[in-house]
Amino acid sequence: MSQPKPLVEFAGTGRFLPDRVVTNDDMARIVDTNDEWIRTRTGIRERRLSDDDTTAAMMGAEAGRKALENAGIGPEDVGTLIVSTATPDRWLPSTACDAQALLGCSNAMAFDVSAACSGWLYGLSMAEGYLTAGRARYALVIAAEKMSAIVDWSDRTTCVLFGDGAGAAVLRRAEGDRGIVSAFHRSDGHLAELLYRPGGGASVPMDEGVLARRDHLLKMSGREIFKNAVRSMAEAASNALEGAGISGDEIDLMIPHQANIRIVEATAKYANIPMEKVYVNVDRYGNMSSSSIPVALDEALEEGRIQPGMRVLTATFGAGLTWGAMVWQF
Ligand code: COA
Repeated sequence: MSQPKPLVEFAGTGRFLPDRVVTNDDMARIVDTNDEWIRTRTGIRERRLSDDDTTAAMMGAEAGRKALENAGIGPEDVGTLIVSTATPDRWLPSTACDAQALLGCSNAMAFDVSAACSGWLYGLSMAEGYLTAGRARYALVIAAEKMSAIVDWSDRTTCVLFGDGAGAAVLRRAEGDRGIVSAFHRSDGHLAELLYRPGGGASVPMDEGVLARRDHLLKMSGREIFKNAVRSMAEAASNALEGAGISGDEIDLMIPHQANIRIVEATAKYANIPMEKVYVNVDRYGNMSSSSIPVALDEALEEGRIQPGMRVLTATFGAGLTWGAMVWQF
C-alpha cells in the first residue's frame, strides 16, 4: 500500500515553558518523596511550574504567538483556534476565547477541546476537518496546561508527576506529500474514574465537602493507568502505522506522550522503534498533559532531529480514557 496523501500540513510550531524549574529535591521539601524514587519510577528529574498570575490562556497565547511567527502569518489569518486543556482558566467562557483575545485572532472561531493528554492530537484532527471543508485557511491548535493548579499538593503519588507548559502548531491545507498521513483516535468513558476530578463540576458542585475531601483535585489509580496507557498507546501506534501503510522500522522519530519513561519505553518496544529514535523530555518537564507532544515536536524541529523527508510517529494517552496516534511526514 502506498502512503496516503496528507490533507493538511504543519506551517509552524511554538512552545512556552515557565522559567521556574522545580527539581525532585524541591519536591521532597513539599511531600514525603525523594529524587531516587521519582527518577527510577518515572524518569522525571525536574518540571516547570508557572506562578500564580500566569494562566493557561497566557501560556497558550505565548506558544501560539511563536507558532504564528514561525509560520510567517499574522493572528488575523487564523480561521480556527482550538485550545486543548485539562486546566481551563474558568468554566465559562473557553480558554480558547481568552487566548484569542490575547493573540488578536479576530477572524477566528475559538473553542476548547477536552480530551486530557490526548487533546492536542484530537485538536489536530478537528483542524484537519475544518481546513479540508474550506472553513479556514489556517488553523492554530494550542495545548495549554497549568497542571500545578489541579494537582493535590499533599498527594505524593500524583503531585510529583506533572508540570506546566504550552505548545502550538499552525496547520494549513497540504500542497505536497508533507503533513498528517494517518490518525487513529479512541476513548473509553467506562474507565473515567481511573483519572479524574470527582467534584467541583455541575454534577457535584463545589461546596465545603468537596473542598474538605479535596475532590476538586486530580485523583489517579496509578497502576491501572499505567497498564491502560501502555496497551492503548501500543494499539494506537499500530493502527496509525497501518493507516500510513508502513512499519515501525520506517519511522525516523517517535514523539510519544511524556507521562513516564517506562510507559514511553514500553510503547516504543511494541512499535518496534529503538529508544535512539524516541524523543524524550519527560526528564525536564514531567507530564504536561496535552502540551507534552507539541512542546516535544517544537523542540525536535529546533534541534534538527526532524529533517525534511522524515516520518514521525506520535502516540498519546490520557484521562477519559482517551488515546490516539498519528504518522506525520515532514
Ligand atoms: N515518593 C515516594 N514513594 C512513593 C511516591 C513518591 N512520590 N508515590 C508513591 N510512593 C510509594 C507508594 O506509597 C507505595 O508504597 P507502599 O508500597 O509502601 O504502599 C510505593 O511507592 C509503590 O507505589 P506504586 O503506586 O505501586 O508505584 P508504581 O511503581 O506503580 O509507580 C506511578 C507509581 C504513579 C509512577 C506509576 O503507577 C505510573 O506512572 N502510573 C501512570 C501515571 C500516569 O502516567 N498518569 C498520567 C497518564 S496521562
